[in-house]
Amino acid sequence: MANASELFDLKGRVALVTGASSGLGERFAAVLAANGAAVALVARRLDRLSALKKKIEAAGGRALAIEADVLDRKAMVKAFDLAEKAFGTVTILVNNAGVAHSGRAVDLPEEEWRRVVGTNLDAVFFWAQEAARRMLAAKKAGAIVNIASVLGFGVAKGVVAYTTAKAGVVQLTKALALELAFKGVRVNAIAPGWFVTELNEEYLTGAAGAAVKREIPIGRFGEDGDLDGALLLLASDAGRYIAGATIVVDGAQSVALRG
Ligand SMILES: NC(=O)c1ccc[n+]([C@@H]2O[C@H](COP(=O)([O-])OP(=O)(O)OC[C@H]3O[C@@H](n4cnc5c(N)ncnc54)[C@H](OP(=O)(O)O)[C@@H]3O)[C@@H](O)[C@H]2O)c1
Repeated sequence: MANASELFDLKGRVALVTGASSGLGERFAAVLAANGAAVALVARRLDRLSALKKKIEAAGGRALAIEADVLDRKAMVKAFDLAEKAFGTVTILVNNAGVAHSGRAVDLPEEEWRRVVGTNLDAVFFWAQEAARRMLAAKKAGAIVNIASVLGFGVAKGVVAYTTAKAGVVQLTKALALELAFKGVRVNAIAPGWFVTELNEEYLTGAAGAAVKREIPIGRFGEDGDLDGALLLLASDAGRYIAGATIVVDGAQSVALRG
């Protein structure tokens, strides 16, 4: 019978994490590397990725920093090529890059809608498609982990493009899993609750944030490490029969009724 460390071990796996230059993605990349995967770090801010690469290597891991905009399809292909050349076929993709916005739906400019939906939904599809194509071509099993949000299930005011895109990610995850599971490519998602990062710190550290926090049954925002377990479960053989699922990690925030 496998013990826990064997079950979650990622030795020999090659991961690619989008949005690895800050917040949740930075942590995801470090956790995958700490558990044995070689990790391609993707984002636009190369200086941040290079710093993370150094940190991972200093801890005994393997990493590669790749500057790419997830909206740029040519850069996407190049990123997979570079990762493959350095480490082999990418068998774990963490589709994490994302952007937020705020403002009333009636005031939302078209380019803002397209930027948010393009980054948070379209790019998730195209990066998953590219990863899956390569895994199928190489006849390799693997795992795609999309980062959704509790806003993929419930809605809030002022984030119409974001919440719509994240609901799309939940549905996309199911649709891709259905087509890819029989080839051994498992597609799943994580729906985090609130974690203070560059994406939302202005909002969450202000008065509105204090009110949000009071409504989280576990009594605090998500912290570093709170998503490690869900990520490792979905990325490793521990989750080998999990496909098409979205794991909610939110301290019970989304099950609590308001009012
Ligand atoms: N924090 C939360 O409470 C929360 C809750 C639910 C879901 N999420 C989701 O978790 C994911 C990570 O968010 P975070 O909170 O960690 O935010 P963050 O700290 O702002 O990180 C976002 C990451 O996405 C990258 N990114 C954005 N646009 C990109 C683009 N066009 N091309 C390449 N990379 C791009 C950024 O890198 P560069 O700027 O260097 O390109 C950055 O590394 C997002 O999908 C977000 O929606 C977050």
